[in-house]
Amino acid sequence: MSNPSLLILPGDGIGPEVMAEVRRVIDWFGDKRGLKFDVSEDLVGGSAYDAHGTPLTDETMAKAQEVDAVLLGAVGGPKYDVLDFSVKPERGLLRLRKEMDLYANLRPAQCFDALADFSSLKKDVVAGLDIVIVRELTSGIYFGEPRGIIEEGNERVGINTQRYTESEIDRVARSAFELAMRRGKKLCSMEKANVMESGILWREVVTEVGKEYPEVELSHMYADAGAMQLCRWPKQFDVIVTDNLFGDLLSDAAAMLTGSLGMLPSASLGAPMANGRPKALYEPVHGSAPDIAGQGKANPIACILSFAMALRYSFDKGDEATRLEQAIENVLAKGYRTADLLGEEGKQPVSTSEMGTAILEALDESL
Ligand code: IPM
Ligand code: MG
Repeated sequence: MSNPSLLILPGDGIGPEVMAEVRRVIDWFGDKRGLKFDVSEDLVGGSAYDAHGTPLTDETMAKAQEVDAVLLGAVGGPKYDVLDFSVKPERGLLRLRKEMDLYANLRPAQCFDALADFSSLKKDVVAGLDIVIVRELTSGIYFGEPRGIIEEGNERVGINTQRYTESEIDRVARSAFELAMRRGKKLCSMEKANVMESGILWREVVTEVGKEYPEVELSHMYADAGAMQLCRWPKQFDVIVTDNLFGDLLSDAAAMLTGSLGMLPSASLGAPMANGRPKALYEPVHGSAPDIAGQGKANPIACILSFAMALRYSFDKGDEATRLEQAIENVLAKGYRTADLLGEEGKQPVSTSEMGTAILEALDESL
């Protein structure tokens, strides 16, 4: 049988340097655990625009459709701010999500013990936090029509449309319930049914799907109240399911509870392919951080944890994923910190590649 295939899209900014560390980890699993992958690499975002005049070529799109999983670094940067909207780096990422139909975006927010002091919230509020936000990723206001900027009378009007079909809500709700079944069996759905019809429908469909999962304790919250509760006492949640835009906001807020965006991975999953695996793209929640790009300061952990999620969700290697997560936990416990995890303490941070090396050593110790 041929090896499982991985398409790596490092992207822009710190993307390439964090991805370089992921490649070392992938090689480690090949050498030490016999887990070989057929890895290919390509361009996305601003780097693709520089080379081809588009943030994602049709060839790269076609490759992404064929592989078992895509691993993406980050896209964007100030250099590309002047570009027309249609060729901005972000469009490459949004095209991948849309055309691969990756409707369920899993964004865990997990607080590593060694970093509990680092959160802007009190330690007892975040210590041991382990929640997952399931964000709908291919519909809603990000893609709804009509959209655009039109002339009306003597001024311009910016238009975007929030739009959800029942089937779109149904399928992401199912992903969230399935995940809740494998975790704490608690699901909170967030919308704004008090002001939006799409929210009313969202609540109805989620409730309906919930009847098929009687073991899961389902609750509903308005998304603004949800944001407040996330900051007040996040440990009340296990799995949260929400739409594309609310999910974008709530996942950034949840991420910050854990201390650093540099720690958080994500998985974007679609329908199962012929081989039974879901179409999948894995990426860190953080962006391209152009201010520190190319300086060896970036934290590679979010991207490495994204590969751990790939091991778990695309390759059925939950044990190996846990091995990798544990190695990272150990490295943090030993005190290794990249600059984003240090605050103003004046301690000397480790570089991106030193963090990678420490993780490889911890992996060796796990054997
Ligand atoms: C995210 C990002 C993207 C989004 C951008 C880069 C298009 O903020 O993945 O959360 O808004 O979805
Ligand atoms: Mg975002």
